[in-house]
Amino acid sequence: MSLKGRRILLGITGSIAAFKAAELVRMLTGAGCEVRVVITAAGARFVGPLTFAALTNNPVSQDLFSPDQESRFSHLDLAQWADVAVVAPATANTIGKIAAGIADDLLSTVLLAVTSPVLVCPAMNQAMFKNPMVQANLKRLKEFGVEVVGPARGDLACGEEGEGRLSDPGEIIAHIERALSPGLLKGFRVLVSAGPTREFLDPVRFISNPSTGKMGFALARAAWTLGAEVSLVTGPSFLGDLPGVSMVRITSARGMKREVEGLFEDAHAVIMASAVSDFRPLEANTGKVKKEDASLTLDLARNPDILASLGQKKGERVLVGFAAESEDLRENARKKLKAKNLDFIVANDITNPQAGFETDTNLVTILYRDGQTEEFPLMSKHEVAQKVVARVARLLEEKSKP
Ligand code: CTP
Repeated sequence: MSLKGRRILLGITGSIAAFKAAELVRMLTGAGCEVRVVITAAGARFVGPLTFAALTNNPVSQDLFSPDQESRFSHLDLAQWADVAVVAPATANTIGKIAAGIADDLLSTVLLAVTSPVLVCPAMNQAMFKNPMVQANLKRLKEFGVEVVGPARGDLACGEEGEGRLSDPGEIIAHIERALSPGLLKGFRVLVSAGPTREFLDPVRFISNPSTGKMGFALARAAWTLGAEVSLVTGPSFLGDLPGVSMVRITSARGMKREVEGLFEDAHAVIMASAVSDFRPLEANTGKVKKEDASLTLDLARNPDILASLGQKKGERVLVGFAAESEDLRENARKKLKAKNLDFIVANDITNPQAGFETDTNLVTILYRDGQTEEFPLMSKHEVAQKVVARVARLLEEKSKP
């Protein structure tokens, strides 16, 4: 989802993590957002308002009783202006004030007046975060529909370790995108598979393929952004865990089958974007095979076709596959669409250097059950994911109509 032109009201409170808000602002303005900062008196002790004025190209609001500020852009104007309000970092004090409906400074007053989604990103010492009063306040915020993002676990500025770090700016932005999305997949559970599988011959050798997981990760992220509850079953990938997504990391095709089938029961939609190895060594050695002892012929067994078996028990679910083809793209993809009982299949020509494995872009054609096709221009995998997920949302909506 593009954040271009979206209006972000950023509240900054008195935590050492306030310096990270500068990076958040840079990333938001870089994505084309307009940002207005409201900083508390304690926040301004950590990072000067001038920094945020320069980074946002907007005046920084600080004082509820400033006649000058109130006459130009009042606290109510600020509240109405915002598409989303984000408090990052949010201290225990500000969290307590919001939870209690207290309005004793500009930020807490504006937050009472906003009608947009509100995100609160706590940052504090781990003992403060664990305090039952803070926990009760956060629970109350959630009950009122406020989205609480983080905190993350790790080294804290006070020298301790634990839960209390401000979430990474990238993660906060992912939550902003979700809050601003049309939420077409809210209430739906989407299962995505990604990456390659590895089929070990012995502890140091395996059969695999060049899949990186980029397409599947982009799909999981896009579905989560549209409001879905997402599980991602992935083979070995260098890509890190996705915020908000339930991650399951597996190694082999049989491991993927077990995990995917376990999650299938509860899923409303399944998108299989993984490059499952079709074969595995007939025998796997527990110890390393010495080269002098190795036979030069490898006996293989066929792996189960996960998607084909899901197709047989599909029910009302939306089922989507990918087809990696090097020739007769449409014909082969259509065969897979039918054989695996899919709603649609996303076909890509792996001989094109800008499509398929290890690229950031993809060139795809979507083939539907009813014979229709849609051909797309070269797009980033992120954009392809948005298209695919939008079509899943449309099918789910059609299926849920009486
Ligand atoms: N797939 C699967 N289990 C397998 C092989 C593939 O679930 N053992 C899924 C893939 O995730 C993809 C779809 O089936 O969504 C098509 O995969 P692809 O590799 O293009 O085709 P295959 O069915 O393996 O056929 P072939 O390799 O002969 O082209």
